[in-house]
Amino acid sequence: SQNEPCSFVIFGATGDLATHKLLPALFDLERVERLVDDLSFIALARRSWTTDDWLEHVRTLLKDKIEQSSIPQEVLNRFLARFRYLQADLNDTESYRTLAADLTACGSTGSRTVFYLAIRPADFVTVIKNLKAAGLNEPRGMNRVVIEKPFGEDLESAQVLNRVLHQNFDEEQIYRIDHFLGKETVQNLLVFRFANTIIEPLWNRNFIDHVQITVAESIGIGKRAGYYDRAGALRDMLQNHLMQLLTVVAMEPPPALEADALRDEKVKVLRSIRPIGKRAVHAHAVRAQYTHGSIDGQSVVGYQQEENIELGSITETFAAAKFYIDNWRWRGVPFYLRTGKRMPRQHSMIAIRFKHPPQQLFRETPLESIDPNWILLSIQPEESMHMEIHVKQPGLDMNTRVMQMNASFLKTDEQTLDAYETLLLDVIEGDRSLFIRFDEAEWAWRVIDPILKFWTVEREYIPTYPAGSWGPAEANRLFDSDDQIWRNEL
Ligand code: BG6
Repeated sequence: SQNEPCSFVIFGATGDLATHKLLPALFDLERVERLVDDLSFIALARRSWTTDDWLEHVRTLLKDKIEQSSIPQEVLNRFLARFRYLQADLNDTESYRTLAADLTACGSTGSRTVFYLAIRPADFVTVIKNLKAAGLNEPRGMNRVVIEKPFGEDLESAQVLNRVLHQNFDEEQIYRIDHFLGKETVQNLLVFRFANTIIEPLWNRNFIDHVQITVAESIGIGKRAGYYDRAGALRDMLQNHLMQLLTVVAMEPPPALEADALRDEKVKVLRSIRPIGKRAVHAHAVRAQYTHGSIDGQSVVGYQQEENIELGSITETFAAAKFYIDNWRWRGVPFYLRTGKRMPRQHSMIAIRFKHPPQQLFRETPLESIDPNWILLSIQPEESMHMEIHVKQPGLDMNTRVMQMNASFLKTDEQTLDAYETLLLDVIEGDRSLFIRFDEAEWAWRVIDPILKFWTVEREYIPTYPAGSWGPAEANRLFDSDDQIWRNEL
């Protein structure tokens, strides 16, 4: 189409993100024939490779995928034919001039290009400025730049980054990726909430006791010590992925499913979160670090023993927090968020606990064993919904029990797309609904900034949890009432 780019430039083409996420996702888009014929890719990296070297690299990378799903050779050929490799030094303005000269015009119109910065956040500013210096921020309506979280490392640096971005590009050209928004279940939340009459009337403080958002991972930090030890779980996951989940759970219906309408509503949620005072941080947030333990029968080392982590590091690998959203819908309903590495298994879930019924009619069932209703929305690995309701136990007595209504979001044989596939297509088609607007990023930082600041000062001690457990006991202190507990299982 007239708006779609015909060049897609991948900065950091040999890096982790490009290797594990971008290239497989672009290839999948090729396979389902969602890439227009005239779209070409420029892979840009430091290695002195030729395009042939690069193509060999991509072939190796996709080999297993192609064999496993018996993808026809011609799909691969079509994909490879789109690529050129460009050796570049991000700091060298000459590289950008070469790049500019290399960008072909889209038919009779000018060039339209996506610049995907799959590079270290520390290099964002350099690249953004150099792109502008080479005139590559033009044409304004057409060229797009994609950046990955983390957008800064606290409120201040996020504001600086946004300022630099805005000095060089228009907000309309900027695509800030939070890949959780590309996950099917997250988008499904909007449908679940706003397409079902039986849900939305209950979705408020009159009926909901509290909300839990868990993103548990069993993996450790792998080879990412350099990045992770500076970031920690609060910056790496909670500020972005979990806050995004929170906004989608809590937002009002937008007037239309358009990028800005949607993002306006999300920002309103973030702005309504009650600021956490310095002295309240202890009551609102818990951090911890894993020690050695075992997962799935495999013994794993503690964080301090991970490759390139210095003994004595107090970086958190687990973070939990409690937030209140002070608006008419949510006032008084705690939102409990937690995320951690080296937990027993990978599981992301939104758990909504409803209030107890006002009347205790079924006396034969002792009050304390009456569980309130829950709705559990599992995001990964399974994408499913579970509703827990009371039914009568068969028999002569009037006893109740809990039954789970389980629904997978997928029919048999259906597969979900990888989040990156969805998001990359959105970048190409120019739909910014699932990307983070500058004020969203800033407000999310503003919410967690007090916690961040407090933790930065308190450097002596961090609670621990054994790898393979659901986190430290300290995480229980966040709960407002005794009958609230972390929901670990479906
Ligand atoms: C990334 C974090 O943003 O998300 C990683 O930096 C984390 O630490 C990853 O492992 C989780 O994403 P997913 O899609 O694998 O759940």
